[in-house]
Amino acid sequence: MPVLDILGPEVSRRPPVPAQKPAAGSAALRKYGALPAPSLEWTPQVERETAHLYARVQKVIPPNEWPFFAPYVKAINALKKQRNAVILAHNYQTPEIYNCVADFTGDSLQLAREATKVDADIIVQCGVHFMAETAKVLNPGKTVLIPDLRAGCSLAEAITGEDVRLLRERFPGVPVVTYVNTSAEVKAESDICCTSSNAVQVVESLGAERVILLPDEYLAKYVASQTKVKIIAWKGRCEVHERFTADELKQVRANDPSVQIIAHPECPPDVIAEADFTGSTAHMIDWVRAKRPKRVVMVTECSMADNVQGELPDVEFVRPCNLCPHMKRITLPKILDSLLQMKEEVVVDPMIAERARRAVERMIYLKS
Ligand code: 13P
Ligand code: SF4
Repeated sequence: MPVLDILGPEVSRRPPVPAQKPAAGSAALRKYGALPAPSLEWTPQVERETAHLYARVQKVIPPNEWPFFAPYVKAINALKKQRNAVILAHNYQTPEIYNCVADFTGDSLQLAREATKVDADIIVQCGVHFMAETAKVLNPGKTVLIPDLRAGCSLAEAITGEDVRLLRERFPGVPVVTYVNTSAEVKAESDICCTSSNAVQVVESLGAERVILLPDEYLAKYVASQTKVKIIAWKGRCEVHERFTADELKQVRANDPSVQIIAHPECPPDVIAEADFTGSTAHMIDWVRAKRPKRVVMVTECSMADNVQGELPDVEFVRPCNLCPHMKRITLPKILDSLLQMKEEVVVDPMIAERARRAVERMIYLKS
């Protein structure tokens, strides 16, 4: 069924500013101190010690580029032990991060779940700011770092806590579900969070006739197509997924009718209509692992295909894909700097964090 209403401004009224300003001399730096920069020389020893990691990425990183990455990989893995830190990395991170330094990789739901189990002192979130904030909300006592504070998200920027309060006034008693791609301030105003892998289940779990689902208009339309619950949506969009068109996918299928097309639910509805499967980033990867198609288009961020190409050499990943400029701000040199200088520390107002935690935990512990 179509969504009941779509509210919000035509375009985001907020310019893309970092969700948090960098702090001069963070509490984390005072607590743990800075460490000296390690050698980043490419030596036979570095080559030997990283050979097993290069094997995971050799299909997508040429041998002449590995001497640049390998010293960072070695240094970061050593520093993680020294600092008692873990790296949580989203599926959109580049292959050398995803395959060579991450301790855990996944979609937003898996990363949030993993954040509840971490017993290291420090979490380095390789993803975007809302993911790091979620990790902090779930771990108020731990230090959470993000290697670049400017790693934002067009969806998180599309809505404020004040917008949610106004929506509640306009639709009294209607429960509010917010996508995790939002700030902690927005999560704090909501009843429960959802991700792209559980949005339908979360919406139906409320037993309500109408639900406000924020802020992704396209995710809301996708959920509305899968449930009888009436959905009130917001005009937020992912700047990466909204660029895909049904025409480009029709062209790919016309060139090869056997090609499989799988899409993320942040894509426009006519794009999803062209897809053979729709799911979260983790569900897309699982689908390719299970079906082993000869040729597949992953209608999502480009690193997804690169990250699984090594383990699925028999699958050909066909373009189009689009890059997320925010995810791409995270690089090996910035991760190294993050661990050396304890930056950038993610801070969330404890009052907001407590309310946001309720909404995130309600989602995490939802019975399936
Ligand atoms: P997933 O939860 O599917 O990984 O999506 C997060 C995201 O930002 C997709 O653009
Ligand atoms: Fe946000 Fe889209 Fe980037 Fe995901 S891909 S982080 S939704 S801008």
